[in-house]
Amino acid sequence: MHWSLVAFCTGVGLASAENGLNGWLRYASLPDNLRHRSASVPPMIVALNTTETSPVYTAGKELQAGIKGILGRSVDISHDFPSSHNSESPCILVGTAAAYNAKYGSANLTSFTTDGFWLSVKGNNVLILGQNERGALYGAFEYLSMVAQGNFSDVNLLSNPDAPVRWVNQWDNLDGSIERGYAGPSIFFSNGAAVDDLTRVSQYARLLSSIRINAVIVNNVNANASFLTPANINGLGRIADAMRPYGVRLGISLNFASPQTLGGMNTFDPLDPTVDAWWDNKTDLLYQRIPDMAGYLVKANSEGQPGPLTYNRTLADGANMFARALKRHGNRDGNGGIVMFRAFVYNNHINETDWKADRANAAVDFFKHLDGQFEDNVVVQIKYGPIDFQVREPTSPLFANLFNTSTAIELQITQEYLGQQAHVVYLPPLWKTVLDFDLRVDSKPSLVRDIVSGQRFSRGLGGYAGVVNVGTNTTWLGSHMAMSNLYAYGRLAWDPALDPQKMLEEWTRLTFGFDRSVMDAVTKISMASWPAYENYTGNLGIQTLNDPLTHFGPNPAAQDNNGWGQWTRADRQGIGMDRTVSNGTGFAGQYPPEVAKVYENIDSTPDDLLLWFHHVNYTYHLRGSGETVIQHFYNAHYAGAETAQTFATQWESLRGKMDDERFNDILFKLKFQAGHSIVWRDAITGFYHNLSGIPDSTGRVGHHPWRMEAESMMLQGYRLVSVDPPETASNGTAIVTTSNSTAGSAVAKLPDDFKSGQYDIAIGYFDVIGGRAHYGAFINDEPLEEWIGDLEDKLGHAFSKKLDGSSATRITIPGIKLEKGDVLKIVGAPDGIEQAPLDYIALIPANANMVD
Ligand code: GCU
Repeated sequence: MHWSLVAFCTGVGLASAENGLNGWLRYASLPDNLRHRSASVPPMIVALNTTETSPVYTAGKELQAGIKGILGRSVDISHDFPSSHNSESPCILVGTAAAYNAKYGSANLTSFTTDGFWLSVKGNNVLILGQNERGALYGAFEYLSMVAQGNFSDVNLLSNPDAPVRWVNQWDNLDGSIERGYAGPSIFFSNGAAVDDLTRVSQYARLLSSIRINAVIVNNVNANASFLTPANINGLGRIADAMRPYGVRLGISLNFASPQTLGGMNTFDPLDPTVDAWWDNKTDLLYQRIPDMAGYLVKANSEGQPGPLTYNRTLADGANMFARALKRHGNRDGNGGIVMFRAFVYNNHINETDWKADRANAAVDFFKHLDGQFEDNVVVQIKYGPIDFQVREPTSPLFANLFNTSTAIELQITQEYLGQQAHVVYLPPLWKTVLDFDLRVDSKPSLVRDIVSGQRFSRGLGGYAGVVNVGTNTTWLGSHMAMSNLYAYGRLAWDPALDPQKMLEEWTRLTFGFDRSVMDAVTKISMASWPAYENYTGNLGIQTLNDPLTHFGPNPAAQDNNGWGQWTRADRQGIGMDRTVSNGTGFAGQYPPEVAKVYENIDSTPDDLLLWFHHVNYTYHLRGSGETVIQHFYNAHYAGAETAQTFATQWESLRGKMDDERFNDILFKLKFQAGHSIVWRDAITGFYHNLSGIPDSTGRVGHHPWRMEAESMMLQGYRLVSVDPPETASNGTAIVTTSNSTAGSAVAKLPDDFKSGQYDIAIGYFDVIGGRAHYGAFINDEPLEEWIGDLEDKLGHAFSKKLDGSSATRITIPGIKLEKGDVLKIVGAPDGIEQAPLDYIALIPANANMVD
């Protein structure tokens, strides 16, 4: 390699705030024991950019800031080619391969694909060349990631993306709210317009570019036509400007009826030339302001959204109208505007009494016959499973039914059905079940990841869309731990063959540093989290049994008897959807024959999808463990909740190994998860126990040996209420204060046969939106603990206005000495509509082997 340089700039280090704002880009000072080879990091940076908005310029600044933070060294930046070649003058040279070649003519460009980069570290010389400017920035981040992890080895790495589309979707609204967002209001919009201060937008783009995400759809799929007013187009332009230095392009979600609702026309028929012209005009205006716009995302004829079917036009007619409008603006930088057209089209008024009705069939039914009819800049965006981001779903069969249409997989980083960032759930193992799934199209290897990358069916486009929904909370997602999901999403979109645990370890080092015990705990908790969550929320492929409104806590009965089609078909005898061709909805037949055969036959269906494909009696024996379905439900829910109890305990052992701010924040959430996993366990096991009438062979379900129901205590200023659904409260009932302003108390005296000793005191209560009740626990009138029903503040969002499985929660006061005759008292002071609701108190003996 031949280069050298001259350069004079001052370096500025990043403040190492530990509120999460810098995510995995903290550039924390490297510990001394890892610095011994750091002398090889060159003392100068040459950034071959042409403008200050170029990602190459950003790369130079980022390298400078990173080296300052990690190694404490100030490194100058030059933007000129070194006048002479002198390998004695080491530097980090970053630029596009084309710029480098124009001067030195020695980089091989043929091996690059769009956004790819080459990173060469040879002793004191670092060369980072991008296929384009974005690629150069990716290479700089790769180098910084190595340095931040204490890796100073020589490398010669050519890295190309697996797929061109590596987008994130934000479901932000103009008023600043975010659909299914759990981290506060929007960083993009507020009060009907783009926010004035776009600092957070740039910071988000920085994080995204470091994981090689190349575009953001900035608004909700349930789109508002007002995004297309002149003022809002300008606002979108400002957002695009803020992200451009990071190589992140802007795209928007469209509302199909905009020509009518915003344009005042009497139609939005996609085949009407005046409608076409309206969209052309809007597209022109957008490109005038945002010349590198990434494209459009369209949710049409889904969940009440307008679409082409209203006019008896096909979904392809609708998609192509936008595709043509985008094509008028050419193919910039190999990245012309794309229409991401969602396959999430289904009828939400289907009838459960029809045994053959099945929402899961919808995507293939709606799209298969349109294969080949889409313009070449349309990508059909398909959720990973046929229903909706459930804890376990089979791979969407639509991936195996479109051969002449580009496709992308839609994953969800925001944990809508998976604990809403209040539960730790590390998602890549779930995503990998789909990405690595072999659909055996034409009996040939057909991994989903090779279909969406375009390789399997030779498509030029395709890739990844991740629903992220970051908000203004400094942790971005509302939880430090949830950021591993965003990190891994970007890495997988670039290289889906990566190993979930390896990505996690990388993220952990970058986020928390090098302490071995931190690495072990984060790894153990994260890798156990999805299986545990599946165990306590909905196993054997029955889906996540969430409340249909909040999508958070348990409400198993509510899955059925509605038109939404997320049915379990549970009755007194059995449970599960028969999706066979022979006797059910026929869904299994949407897969290619080799796969269809596996699912059609109950004996070859994997246990974890048993109830997705088959309706069986509760007494059916599983292939794997031999347990009955119902006993497996009981066992799995107890096992899942038990695993969740260990998370907080493991975390406790890390006290002092990181900053208090993050340590405490994570600990609080893990304790919440421990409590809420018990709410889940009790609700689901209680519900099916009641429905089936089949006892738990180990006697746990329905028996709470150490619980005292709040309603059985001596009450003053409290009254009994029924909870709906009943299984989300111990004994189906709770107590609330009789007035909205006066405190109530619940008192119990420990009986004579009470065994004195050490106990964990667990208190089940409800924390609803709309008030911050105050609670105090006393023993013999001595204060023991006080707390506030303020999860809406502590978790960053609230779950429910009423007493149910989403507001049910519990705290544990560990290691308390109790004696017979002690008087326990809980005093609850209501606030607003939160009438200090209490469910039960459990006195769990120390060293008990079960959490009651
Ligand atoms: C889910 C989610 C909605 C969202 C929809 C979609 O149903 O609950 O909020 O709009 O998916 O992906 O379009």
